Amino acid sequence: MSHIALAPLLVAMVMGEGCCPPDAWEGVVGLMIGSVKGKNPHLTKGVQMWHQNVTLGMIAIEEELLVDGLKMKLKVIQDYNKKNEYFIKDGKCTKMTLVPSIPRCLPENATLVENTYFGAGSENVAVKIYRFNTRGLETYFTVTANDCIPVMEIASGTLPNAQVMKVSEYTGISLGVKDPSVLNIPAICQSVEDSAGYVPIMSRWRRSDFH
Ligand SMILES: *[C@@H]1O[C@H](CO)[C@@H](O)[C@H](O)[C@H]1NC(C)=O
Ligand SMILES: *[C@@H]1O[C@H](CO)[C@@H](O)[C@H](O)[C@H]1NC(C)=O
Repeated sequence: MSHIALAPLLVAMVMGEGCCPPDAWEGVVGLMIGSVKGKNPHLTKGVQMWHQNVTLGMIAIEEELLVDGLKMKLKVIQDYNKKNEYFIKDGKCTKMTLVPSIPRCLPENATLVENTYFGAGSENVAVKIYRFNTRGLETYFTVTANDCIPVMEIASGTLPNAQVMKVSEYTGISLGVKDPSVLNIPAICQSVEDSAGYVPIMSRWRRSDFH
């Protein structure tokens, strides 16, 4: 097929290309994930304090979750240079290999669903809502119109072993990382071995949907 034949189709769709949030930011991510595995329903909800500096290749997530009613408090540090992910819980550290590359931008083939705003009048915040499919999930991702700062994410779909719905809200975001030491790998993690058998709950949800 010639490029000319494709041109009208490409013009008709507005792509998410170039929607990349600032490299360094921190803020609160409130999330709720419902899933059904076989016949068993599961509910995870809670908050994550998210800190990232993409230039440095580091993301730190301090989270307090209720996983099927069970309280979980842990800190996760993702080191994309060394491809390691550390889980610090109850003073113990475990490590896993980190496969994906550091999240930077929305997928290039995300389509713009709507240019709209939250609030009203002088208290309005201009946003863009994008839609894309990844890993079996259909995602609607709302970002601020000018700087692609994440605002809200709603994803649903069927994974190989579960049906899932996920909602995240991003609030209190500020640019930069006030205390860069939050991204440091603590001493208790320096000598830990890869814990292949230890698969932290929620691991796949911790990944950002920026790519
Ligand atoms: C975009 O590309 C991904 C793979 O890169 C694909 O799985 C997905 O179906 C594509 N389309 C949309 C609308 O996300
Ligand atoms: C992110 O890390 C880079 C590289 O170390 C550093 O130059 C930059 O100041 C950091 N940015 C913020 C906002 O902390």
